Amino acid sequence: MDQIHVEGGPRLEGEVRVSGSKNATLPLMAAALLGEGATTLRNVPDLADVTTLLELLRTMGVDAQWVPGAERHVVRVHAPPNVLPEAPYDLVRKMRASVLVLGPLLARFGRARVSLPGGCAIGARPIDQHLKAFRALGAEILLEGGYVEARARRLKGATVRFDKITVTGTENVLMAAVLAEGTTVLENAAREPEVEDLARALNAMGARIRGAGTDLVVVEGVSTLTGVEHTVISDRIEAGTLLVAAAITRGDVHVQGAVPAHLDAVVGKLREAGCTVVPTADGLRCKGPDVPEPVDLQTTEHPGFPTDMQAQLMALLSVARGTSVISENIFENRFMHVAELRRMGADIRVEGHTAVVKGVHTLSGAPVMATDLRASASLILAGLRGAGTTRVARVYHLDRGYEALERKLQTLGARTTRVK
Ligand code: EPZ
Repeated sequence: MDQIHVEGGPRLEGEVRVSGSKNATLPLMAAALLGEGATTLRNVPDLADVTTLLELLRTMGVDAQWVPGAERHVVRVHAPPNVLPEAPYDLVRKMRASVLVLGPLLARFGRARVSLPGGCAIGARPIDQHLKAFRALGAEILLEGGYVEARARRLKGATVRFDKITVTGTENVLMAAVLAEGTTVLENAAREPEVEDLARALNAMGARIRGAGTDLVVVEGVSTLTGVEHTVISDRIEAGTLLVAAAITRGDVHVQGAVPAHLDAVVGKLREAGCTVVPTADGLRCKGPDVPEPVDLQTTEHPGFPTDMQAQLMALLSVARGTSVISENIFENRFMHVAELRRMGADIRVEGHTAVVKGVHTLSGAPVMATDLRASASLILAGLRGAGTTRVARVYHLDRGYEALERKLQTLGARTTRVK
C-alpha cells in the first residue's frame, strides 16, 4: 500500500489546474446506458472510481473504455440494445456509486439486479429513497440476498417527493424518469452542480428536463435518447481542497478551472477564516493568513457548506487563533480524521455530530492513517502545516477521489512524495 510523505513548512504559490468532477463523472457514465448511440465524456478525472465503473459496465456487456490517444481524460461508453443488467456485490462494495446504474437499467432495459451498496466508513448510507421513488414510477422492487431485484415493463411518470435530500437518489430517479411514460415531478430534489451537469447531458441526449439545480425538477418522458459528447464540469471539492492548501500554508495559489458559483459557501468560510479569496477570469485565487481566525460551520445540502469539505476545513481550523465549532449534519460518522489530527497535536473534542476545534500554535508531523477519501485530504493538508514529516498511510482512499493530488501540490512548492 502506498504512502504519501509530507514535509511541513513551504508556502504554496503559483497556478494549479483542477481536474474534472468525480461526482459528476460517475452519474454521467451511468447515463450513457440510456443512449442508443455512443457517449463520449471529456475532462474525466483519472481516478480509481472511474476505472471501477468502467469495469462494471464492461461486465454488463457495455463497450466502456478510456479513449486511447493524445487527448487524455476521455471516456467512451456505448451500451448495445441488450446488456446483462447486473451489478455484483464485489464491485458495488468497492464503489457504492455503482447503484447509479439502477435507474438507467430500469428505464432502458426494464430490469436490474444490483447489490445493495452496504455501508461505508462515513455512515450506513441506505438507498431507501432511491427505491421508494422507483416504486412510485411503477417499478416492482424486491430485496433478496443483499440484492435489489427491479423490474418494470415501462416506467410511468409520477410525482416523487424525497423525504431526505439525496444527491445520487435525485440522479438515479432523474435517469429513470427521462424514458418514463408521461411527466415526472421530483420534489425536494438535490441541487448540487453535479445534478445540473447530468441534466444538461441528458437534455443533449434528447431528454426533456426542467428545473435541475433547484429542489423542483420536472421531466417529460421521451421514447429514446441518443449518445452525447459532453465535457464534465470541474471538481468543486478538489478545487476547495486546493484553496485550503493555500490557506493552511500562508500561500498564494490560483486554482484554474474552479467555478466560483459552485463554491460560495466554502469561499465564505475561507474569508471568515481570514483568507483573501478572489474570483479570476478562469478560477479562484486564495491567499492564506498568517494565523487563521476561528470559524463555526454546519454542513448542509448544496448550496450550503458541503460535507465533502468538512475534514479539509477542520485541518485549517486546527491551527486557528481560537475555538471553532463544526457540525456534521449529513453523515453520522464523518469525524474519523479527528483521531488522526489529534495525533498531530490538534486539540479537537467530538460531542455527537459536533466537533469543538481549539486552535493550537503548531501541528507536528506524525505517521497517520487515512480512513476515507476526504479524511485523507485533511491529513495531507495538516501535514503541509505540521513541523516535520507526516506519513499518510492507506492513500488508496485518496486515489479514489483525487487525481495525483501530491503532484498537484508539488507543482505549488509542497514537499510531498508518494512512497510505494
Ligand atoms: C453523494 O453521495 C456524493 N457521492 C458524496 O461524496 C457526498 O458526500 C454526498 O452526496 C453528500 O453531498 C457521489 O455523488 C458519488 P446522499 P450520496 O444520498 O448520494 C442519507 C465524496 O467524498 N440517505 O446525498 O450517497 C444518507 O445516508 C462522496 O466524494 C438516506 O437516508 O449521498 C446521508 O446521510 C462521499 N436514504 C444523506 O442522506 C437514501 O435513500 C445524504 O446522502 C439516500 C441517502
